[in-house]
Amino acid sequence: MKRNSKWMMLTGVLLIAAAILAACGGQQAEPTTAPATEAPIVTEAPVVTEAPTEAAVVLSGDPIRGGLLYDEWAKVLGVEAPEGEPALWATQTTNTRTGAGTWRCKECHGWDYKGVDGAYGGGSHKTGFVGVLQVAGTDANEILGMLKGSTSPDHDFSAYMDDQTLTDIALFLSGNMLDSAAFITDKAAVGGDAANGETVYTENCVDCHGPQGAALNFADESGPEYYGTIAIDNPWEFVHKARFGQPGVADMPALVDLGLTDQEYIDLLAYAQTLPTSSPVVEGGRLYDNWIKATGAADMTTDQPLWATQTTNTRTGNDTWRCKECHGWDYKGVDGRYGSGSHLTGFPGIISSAGKTPEELLAAMKNGDHDFSAYLTDGQLNALIAFIQQVEDMAPYINDDKTVNGDAANGKTLYESNCIACHGEDGKALDFDDGEGKEFVGTVSADNPWEVLNKIMHGQPGAVMTAGLNMEWSLQDLLDILAYIQTLPIE
Ligand code: HEC
Ligand code: HEC
Ligand code: HEC
Ligand code: HEC
Repeated sequence: MKRNSKWMMLTGVLLIAAAILAACGGQQAEPTTAPATEAPIVTEAPVVTEAPTEAAVVLSGDPIRGGLLYDEWAKVLGVEAPEGEPALWATQTTNTRTGAGTWRCKECHGWDYKGVDGAYGGGSHKTGFVGVLQVAGTDANEILGMLKGSTSPDHDFSAYMDDQTLTDIALFLSGNMLDSAAFITDKAAVGGDAANGETVYTENCVDCHGPQGAALNFADESGPEYYGTIAIDNPWEFVHKARFGQPGVADMPALVDLGLTDQEYIDLLAYAQTLPTSSPVVEGGRLYDNWIKATGAADMTTDQPLWATQTTNTRTGNDTWRCKECHGWDYKGVDGRYGSGSHLTGFPGIISSAGKTPEELLAAMKNGDHDFSAYLTDGQLNALIAFIQQVEDMAPYINDDKTVNGDAANGKTLYESNCIACHGEDGKALDFDDGEGKEFVGTVSADNPWEVLNKIMHGQPGAVMTAGLNMEWSLQDLLDILAYIQTLPIE
């Protein structure tokens, strides 16, 4: 989509004071001679008499980028946030976060732009700092001054962002904030038409987030966060991201660019709040793959107790705790691919357990040396149960020689509509290998199609990646994708 054509020529209204501000902008000594306690320079009257001969300062830029920058400017600029915390951070004690997050505009001023007068007026995000909604409608030149320290030398961001970048933010604050007071009450969307919201969703969001909004998990399995979760837990963040996009995700649209009405944002939010906040089968699939990575748990310092009952697989530590390491990517343990080779343990698969009741499966996961309840919550164990109950034998679909019974042409279409944004056209945009070699989508697909099918269905533990089951793709569609990615370069 063409992001900003119609904004590029958008201009800030000229304030006479702005010419003076711009003139002061280059003088680094200015802030030290104007302590924070002094009245803001911009409002001082004498300025007016000096200005008439100055050329008009017309600000132009991209307020959509400004909205993204407000969210997380370092990510948008592709830089590391400065070390430590901003100087202003030390003037409060209630928000105990440290590091990069404290440099985000939203952390001090809120997703609702209301600072202490809004959602960040309490809770762990409370700083007591002012909001920014009151500057809406203010001339962008004046706001630009605020970002360069006109109200406080500690609020000078010009060392970190160039003039155009600060201008984009100023334009956003001047003209593009949305006051949600009228349509969000107690976090609930008020007066939205969910049916129309579904239409907006289907047109703009469904390709990546899936029909139920659960194709991408933004957090990990210790507290999954889906599209619906954000809409319910933080409707202001949801609306901001819907309007401006997601820093670092180039292809996520900015609805502001499409000229939606305020009512349509309410509609979108109302619909999003009806979507699920958990998705047991895919969560279980990611836990089965690697529950330590999926939950962000600490590394294991010992081997799983049952490990000592076999000698053929010589891995140690975390690997010995992965469900897949004992039961296989094909869910068949010793009766499948792990019946020989370095992964051989002799342990059984889980396919024969698919027909068991939740109670039986729960008992198995809490049984003696096979007890995982010290590490996994009841919710996570239930997700594993939901997953196990639906596993099936992949033999009819993936052949012993690793070829896949799928239609690569259809797979290509699906790959291009969904996977390409992260993995690139040739599948080489992400390299999974942490050691010397290279490992791309094509490499792992050729090498271990069972593993890759599992990951395409459920997503990648500890990473934001599409869970194909939640795209409501059929098994055949998933196999088609697999067949296609087997044709991608392996190195
Ligand atoms: C560490 C917390 C913190 C961060 C990060 C921060 N601000 Fe502020 N901001 C403040 C405080 C405190 C004030 C009020 C005192 C002052 O003006 O310096 C303020 C004031 C403002 C004002 C003026 C509000 C008014 O009515 O006078 C604007 C506009 C503003 N900030 C925008 C931003 C933008 C945009 C960013 C991100 C680039 C940002 N701030 C980052 C703390 C922060
Ligand atoms: C091109 C794919 C794509 C499209 C289309 C898309 N998104 Fe996203 N969205 C993503 C990705 C990827 C992430 C996760 C980013 C991350 O956390 O790394 C995400 C994250 C989000 C988040 C949560 C961000 C967070 O950090 O909590 C929200 C909310 C969101 N999207 C809303 C929307 C809305 C609303 C639409 C439709 C207007 C939409 N997205 C369309 C790819 C997309
Ligand atoms: C160290 C190897 C090992 C790991 C890791 C492991 N299992 Fe097992 N699992 C076994 C063995 C061996 C059995 C056979 C029964 C027994 O000894 O408890 C088994 C049995 C099972 C059964 C069948 C129980 C039944 O009665 O039908 C299920 C289901 C199961 N495991 C699921 C899991 C899940 C889910 C995980 C990951 C959280 C996991 N296993 C991790 C070794 C392992
Ligand atoms: C929002 C970004 C995103 C999307 C969309 C996405 N992936 Fe991924 N994928 C990732 C990330 C991140 C990783 C993990 C990289 C790592 O672990 O280093 C990954 C890993 C993988 C792996 C390798 C897993 C491994 O460890 O061996 C495969 C295969 C894969 N993705 C296939 C796909 C396919 C097929 C699609 C489309 C159906 C897809 N991905 C969509 C981000 C994405």
